[in-house]
Amino acid sequence: MTDYELLNAQIDALTEGVPHPISNLANASALLWESLDKLNWAGFYLMEGETLVLGPFQGKTACIEIPVGEGVCGTAAKEDRTLVVPNVHEFPGHIACDCASNSEIVVPLRRDGAVVGVLDIDSPVFSRFTEEDRLGLESFARILEGRI
Ligand code: SME
Repeated sequence: MTDYELLNAQIDALTEGVPHPISNLANASALLWESLDKLNWAGFYLMEGETLVLGPFQGKTACIEIPVGEGVCGTAAKEDRTLVVPNVHEFPGHIACDCASNSEIVVPLRRDGAVVGVLDIDSPVFSRFTEEDRLGLESFARILEGRI
């Protein structure tokens, strides 16, 4: 179980007044990596035109470009909503960067109402992400999106 109140206080303190978006995303991925258990990937993709491009992350090397509308990340970006996927192997078009991944959560990041990127977290455990994780990580994204 993650203490999201603590985690979100930490990301707030860590990024407040820091005018360096990549630094903030790098620290955010490191903080997620050490605060959530049973993960194999945690990081960001950033929108460039109609493509999500790999940003700061923790975990194994990952695919660099994901077209909007493809995979879990691209679908979350296109539909502008959080996707919690209990079994990625059942998700149509799932992009397998690390074959250890079995479940995933993707939370859009927005600026001025538009999706500017996504937070993507993968787990080797099926159904790893609960409603509590979704709410906690959406709050995390709300704090972070003001600082990138
Ligand atoms: N599985 C993702 C691709 C990104 S990696 O998991 C880091 C997807 O289907 O969008």
